[in-house]
Amino acid sequence: MPEGKRNGHVRTLIPHDELQRRITELAVEIDRDYAASDRLIAVGVLKGSVFFLVDLLKHLTVPVEIDFFQTSSYGNSTSPGEVRIKKDIDISVRGKDVLLIEDIVDTGFTLATILDLLRFRKARSVRLCALLDKSGAREIDVPIDYRGFEIENLFVVGYGLDFNEKFRNLPYIGVWEPDAPLGDESK
Ligand code: IMP
Ligand code: MG
Repeated sequence: MPEGKRNGHVRTLIPHDELQRRITELAVEIDRDYAASDRLIAVGVLKGSVFFLVDLLKHLTVPVEIDFFQTSSYGNSTSPGEVRIKKDIDISVRGKDVLLIEDIVDTGFTLATILDLLRFRKARSVRLCALLDKSGAREIDVPIDYRGFEIENLFVVGYGLDFNEKFRNLPYIGVWEPDAPLGDESK
């Protein structure tokens, strides 16, 4: 996107090398914890978790299946926290060790919903791995087993995270700082 069409800029919050270093640490921990499991499945939430999931799983040595959910929030005041499953996973989780992988935990509603669903489907175990934890925005408690970074209550983009579907491809996490009011961004 040409610089002049952005109406804002992205301030780096977590540079690429710092992300990669932390992801390697998480992978070592996960690899150790699942060393005895022959039924691990990594479940990502589209689209934001994709960059993180790929980089994390490349470091694992334990066998792992991969699948994805896609969710959206109904986003109206009559159903706060109500999450819609737009795409379900294809693989059965019954009797499996599920590692749920998410880009960011904000209110917690997305993961609380998915965790309930995985337990209802009789996964043997479910653990949660989140790259970013915006704990100041939490409205429902979710247990994060593997946490990349705790961040302030800021709107972040990059490394999978978007603002209106843009910036997902940035190799770092940044804060989108608009020069103009939000909504003016199409100019
Ligand atoms: P939650 O259900 O409120 O925890 O929100 C989870 C989803 O909202 C995440 O998976 C992201 O897709 C999105 N989200 C939350 N905070 C941010 C942010 O700062 N930047 C981009 N997307 C975000
Ligand atoms: Mg997401």
